[in-house]
Amino acid sequence: MNQVDYLRISLIDRCNFRCQYCMPEGAELDYILKQQLLTDAELLTLIQEVFIPVGFTRFRLTGGEPLLRPGVVDLVHAIASFPQTQDLSMTTNAFLLASMAQNLYDAGLRRINISLDSLDPDIFDQIIGNRGRSRWQNVWEGIQQAYHVGFNPLKLNVVIIPGVNDHEVLDLAALSIDKQWHVRFIEFMPIGNSQLFGDRGWVSSEQLRQQIRERWGLTESQVCGSGPADVFQIPGAKGTLGFISQMSECFCDRCNRMRLSADGWLRPCLLNESEQLDLKTALRAGVSTAKLREQVRHLLAMKPEINFKGRDTGTIGVYSRTMSQIGG
Ligand code: GTP
Ligand code: 5AD
Ligand code: SF4
Repeated sequence: MNQVDYLRISLIDRCNFRCQYCMPEGAELDYILKQQLLTDAELLTLIQEVFIPVGFTRFRLTGGEPLLRPGVVDLVHAIASFPQTQDLSMTTNAFLLASMAQNLYDAGLRRINISLDSLDPDIFDQIIGNRGRSRWQNVWEGIQQAYHVGFNPLKLNVVIIPGVNDHEVLDLAALSIDKQWHVRFIEFMPIGNSQLFGDRGWVSSEQLRQQIRERWGLTESQVCGSGPADVFQIPGAKGTLGFISQMSECFCDRCNRMRLSADGWLRPCLLNESEQLDLKTALRAGVSTAKLREQVRHLLAMKPEINFKGRDTGTIGVYSRTMSQIGG
């Protein structure tokens, strides 16, 4: 059985973007109230007294947009300082990253994943739901700065949307050639926003690989990540190409992760909402961390049963939380 040692921690459900596939219109109406967010102290207690003792050693900070969490650099420092922390990473939209990258690195963050769905500022703004001054340049500067500061690996996440950015597959893949940038194509998941693409649907990883193979060739990479991506490489490229194919392939049997929401719910599977644990309410009610460890251990033992099985029956389910609330 896979060891489940990787926790994705959502620091905040708010985001300064409105990516169509992540945050359906109106999602902001359901933002978690401040008093319902785990405080820094509660989060650090849960990590130190519950998650680390039951075997979690790798942590990824997500959102919404994690850089919007007040005091995020101090939190990074605190989590990086636990001797058991073997890996600390973040997934961000990079809008605020240029000025924060160095501080985050100095605080102990070592790897970073950034969403970049287009190289065309107009298309980019359309995807992130921005009607004001273009935000593409800020994101691009954030990526350059993260690279300059030394985040490694630096991963760029792309969701291909038919009719919107599918003509950019080769240009985006080419970003992996000259720099050690790892570009990952993620199949759109209709989670919390199932009607969005309607009959436009999603593009399978194999279709994308076919295009890339025809242009440059494509080899399977030796460097395999610890996540759900299948990793390939354009021959001679410095970086790699990852494909996260939750719609066309089942990787649940190698799942090594759980998710903690910003309001303290522990979710054993992205695509199955059953068996979630409300750790914040328990903690605030005075339940001991020893008891919480026991509950999390029980959940870990049950995880193989909880892991998503709907794919076998061709269903994807109905979800009460959006991706922006779960953190991807
Ligand atoms: P690393 O492997 O640690 O670099 O991270 P990652 O690729 O898992 O993280 P990232 O936040 O960049 O996520 C990229 C995409 O993978 C997002 O769309 C996630 O929703 C998706 N993803 C991550 N973990 C899982 C998972 O367990 N199941 C499914 N179905 N999708 C996942
Ligand atoms: N399907 C696939 N990927 C998604 N992401 C957000 N929403 C979706 C979705 N519905 C991705 C973003 C981001 C990561 C955290 O999750 O591209 O990079
Ligand atoms: Fe925000 Fe990321 Fe969701 Fe886009 S994908 S709305 S940047 S949380």
